[in-house]
Amino acid sequence: MKILGIETSCDETAAAVVTGEGEILSNVVRSQVEEHAPYGGIVPEIAARAHVSALDHIIADAMTKARTAYDELDAVAVTGGPGLIGGVIVGVMTAKAIAAARNLPFLAVNHLEGHALTARLTDGIEFPYLLLLVSGGHTQLLIVEGVGKYCRLGTTIDDAIGEAFDKTAKMLGLNYPGGPAVEKAANDGSPGKFSLPRPLKGRDGCDFSFSGLKTAVRTTIEKLPSGALKEADIADICAEFQSAVADVVSDRVSNAVTAFRSRHPIGNTLVVSGGVAANTAIRSALSGVADSQNLQFVAPPPNLCTDNAAMIAWAGVERFKLGLTDQLDFAPRPRWPLDPEAPTAPFAGVKA
Ligand code: KG4
Ligand code: ZN
Repeated sequence: MKILGIETSCDETAAAVVTGEGEILSNVVRSQVEEHAPYGGIVPEIAARAHVSALDHIIADAMTKARTAYDELDAVAVTGGPGLIGGVIVGVMTAKAIAAARNLPFLAVNHLEGHALTARLTDGIEFPYLLLLVSGGHTQLLIVEGVGKYCRLGTTIDDAIGEAFDKTAKMLGLNYPGGPAVEKAANDGSPGKFSLPRPLKGRDGCDFSFSGLKTAVRTTIEKLPSGALKEADIADICAEFQSAVADVVSDRVSNAVTAFRSRHPIGNTLVVSGGVAANTAIRSALSGVADSQNLQFVAPPPNLCTDNAAMIAWAGVERFKLGLTDQLDFAPRPRWPLDPEAPTAPFAGVKA
């Protein structure tokens, strides 16, 4: 079995071909970082236009690298949401055109399911497992119970974790995307020289909050003597910020492990995915939680944690094997929760 996957929901234009056994025959990703860098964040209209001009070439490249002809494909899978709707439409229309022209089954994949199932592609792990999904748009703790079967334990009540990294970087005059820039600067600094809060740490539940931390970074910068920010201050603020985020993540994930175990006493794996999973401090905090709780810890390689189409093709493989194909009248979805039954997160500072 060979499935073509297409991803255009954010700022990466990507295509990949993956086999039924999980062999990645090609995985082509074109980042739009340069187009968005002057604005310090993603501009949806620019993203959609960049997907339009790049996607055909990226797909052709993925097919060539996979040495695969269209008549050797078994299906076409595409991110059907959630995401920036202009980009999602570009991918979905293109996938539908290929499916119609080549008479192939069409699969609309939830982008979050792509991230959620990546660990099965890379490490072949069994259901159920506990997943921390941390990206520029999402911060969620989920129990992955099966294809299409998710139980959301917690989410962010304000900013996503990657967004907090990106905004902190912007306030400190660092480059976009902010996550890698903050991590690099933090390597030259020490936590504790400045003091930042650990929002929701020690509280019940598995929700996250990052807007107070972001505000604390701003007020810390404002309190510095006027003039240009010194490099040493930037490094120390980044180190403290990263340490605060890692503390909060450990705390929330520990609560999630308890909830996971009470629902699935045999569950023994913690997985991290999403762009922020590339962060070494966060990975080592998670690996510490896993060790202390006797869980196996799985973190897919960074190029499969950030947005890519191999994860979409693989989610397509898993769905196709179960006969879960979609019709060509599928409508792109800006919002698409993995667990529609999950309660909405309570407001920060208010006991639920
Ligand atoms: O999963 P992803 O590639 O795209 C989304 O779906 O959002 O995640 C991008 C996010 C950005 O916010 C970026 O700053 C963050 O992941 N990121 C990191 C690191 N590398 C990327 N955050 C912290 N540390 C990193 N090393
Ligand atoms: Zn993503």
